[in-house]
Amino acid sequence: MKYAHIVGWGSYLPTRVLTNDEIARTVDTSDEWIYSRTGIRERRIAGSRETTATLAFEAAARALAVADMHPSQVELIIVATSTPEYIFPSTACRVQDYLGASRAGAFDLSAACSGFVYALSMAAQALATESVRNAVVIGAETMSRVLDWNDRGTCILFGDGAGAVVLKGSSIPGGVLASTLRSDGSGGELLSLPAVYHNPIPVLGPEYLYPNGHKKNTIAMDGRQIFRFATHVLADVVEDALGKAGLTIDDVALIVPHQANSRIIEASAKKLKVSSDLFYMNVDRAGNTSAASIPIALCDAVQEGRLKPDDNVVFVGFGGGLTWAASVVKWDVTPPHVPLLDREWKRARYIAARGRSKLRRIGRRVSSRLLGSPTPDAPLREAPRK
Ligand code: COA
Repeated sequence: MKYAHIVGWGSYLPTRVLTNDEIARTVDTSDEWIYSRTGIRERRIAGSRETTATLAFEAAARALAVADMHPSQVELIIVATSTPEYIFPSTACRVQDYLGASRAGAFDLSAACSGFVYALSMAAQALATESVRNAVVIGAETMSRVLDWNDRGTCILFGDGAGAVVLKGSSIPGGVLASTLRSDGSGGELLSLPAVYHNPIPVLGPEYLYPNGHKKNTIAMDGRQIFRFATHVLADVVEDALGKAGLTIDDVALIVPHQANSRIIEASAKKLKVSSDLFYMNVDRAGNTSAASIPIALCDAVQEGRLKPDDNVVFVGFGGGLTWAASVVKWDVTPPHVPLLDREWKRARYIAARGRSKLRRIGRRVSSRLLGSPTPDAPLREAPRK
């Protein structure tokens, strides 16, 4: 039995800042309204050459540099995302390729804004049973690509970004101590994003046109109901996970919640009978980055010195599905000291490794041209008779 310790962390936010005032130029809203209802001042928007996978890769490269691990040592990559570029190949496979993580299994996990906590819990189990020795867990989103920018109820809330942690198995007790995962599919329509495969089949008649009624692939949300749901479940799931870890709220140094809305956090803090200062918040500058929000907030909290060795930290997420989840983590394994220059050099090497992936693609194309069909002269076999 091994314990899954966090030994590396990293985040990446696109450079383009979109302020509330800018949004107020296109829809009927204001900075004052948005800030007072959500706590959000600005969010980041991915550039035209950026994708969920490139953001995820940047965060993973930073996290691996902190952990002082080479991508070839990575055994598992999980990307929690609701905005993959493709259903397949998964975003995780693209990150695996960009990193040159040649020995890693890779898959995406879909649990909306709870995705990072779900993924952390799955990876911790894989480490505990020793099926892998380490894992990179990433939350990454390009929410700006799935928003209806004319819907003021949703377009003000979300932003783009990615965060990652590296987990390493160790026989020293600690790390991810306990998790609670929950879901309630009956509330699915309260926050939804249709997949891309609702393809009408005109030749078969009107009943085959958009059979589930979806007309566009953008987020639909009942804001009031989601607000109620979030304030209802957050405190309960934190207490449940703490109970499993044999801890109480008094043992917690910091809660890193999903960054959706500062009012949800304040209401949940009241329910837990703690000060809202126990919760780390960066929603003002990043907005709601869905599955990416917790690892991005974690990196900011570490940067600001909000976590010390031996602190108990709780991650708590909630969102579409409906899903909600919490993990209790002992922040106990100090990563190897990698001087800043060395860390940046390593990150640059990982980024250079992306070139390898391009070369492999070109190589495949060339060999396909040169070699032609793998079975050009193979005789056609008759299908076996039953
Ligand atoms: N700017 C200005 N006015 C807006 C607005 C905006 N961006 N969005 C809605 N309004 C208006 C509404 O049209 C409504 O007007 P009306 O009273 O004339 O009908 C009024 O503001 C109140 O709307 P309501 O939906 O009740 O506002 P609210 O206080 O619930 O705030 C949210 C709306 C979306 C900010 C809030 O419900 C929320 O944060 N919910 C949770 C969403 C969330 O976190 N989702 C992600 C979960 S992972």
